[in-house]
Amino acid sequence: MSMKTRVPLLAGNWKMYKTVSESVSFARDLVNACRAVNGREVLVCPPFPSLTSVKEITKGTGIRLGAQDLHWEMQGAFTGEVSAPMLKDAGCDYVLIGHSERRQYFGETDDTVHKKMKAAFQHGLLPVVCVGESLAERESGSHLSVVDRQLRVGVSGLTAQESLRLVIAYEPVWAIGTGKTATPDQAQEMHASIRKILGDLYEKSAAEKIRVLYGGSIKPDNIDSLMAQPDIDGGLVGGASLKVADFERIVRYRDV
Ligand code: PGA
Repeated sequence: MSMKTRVPLLAGNWKMYKTVSESVSFARDLVNACRAVNGREVLVCPPFPSLTSVKEITKGTGIRLGAQDLHWEMQGAFTGEVSAPMLKDAGCDYVLIGHSERRQYFGETDDTVHKKMKAAFQHGLLPVVCVGESLAERESGSHLSVVDRQLRVGVSGLTAQESLRLVIAYEPVWAIGTGKTATPDQAQEMHASIRKILGDLYEKSAAEKIRVLYGGSIKPDNIDSLMAQPDIDGGLVGGASLKVADFERIVRYRDV
């Protein structure tokens, strides 16, 4: 049994999968599958059109709701965008920010990540800020410094109160959707480094309370060894969160 005091967070990132009706039937199954899960928090992040319907099904259960992105302005002429107050009103508790697919395909930068994170806190949403290096960066040995920069620009400037509620997701880009998981040692090395940087940016005691999730090809057969690492506080799960049985097994990981 590990001695972690942080409540583990197991989050499903559905990406651009599931229509509203598919989301509804999946959410019903997930509510049944996650009954009597204690001591860990479960989060699902469906596409925007499914948010309110999934909320209807999950409300009153332990399953929390998150969006996959937001705009930093409250409202305005920003066609196609969605704001924090809209997400909050739709029932979201959390919002993913700076996922590598947003960075890679939609021009997200550390600067926009920072603005989105501030907007999330301002309107009562908890941000899950994603960081992670590319394969080339890992191979050239610059992975620690890349993530250091992403954090120092992306998640600086919070109040002490806000900093305690921040969630970070370390997702090496080379591990996302590739079936190539970071080894528990590789992940732990990065998670420890992330916690150290958070301790520089905020109080060291705050850094001890911030949850740092791992993401990238999490599966039922690797979750236990990842969660056994002292600085891994949960998972951000893509592919395996789309199947109830797989996600249930991940949520019910065994503390080894
Ligand atoms: P994956 O995706 O689990 O399919 O690798 C993780 C993510 O992108 O959040």
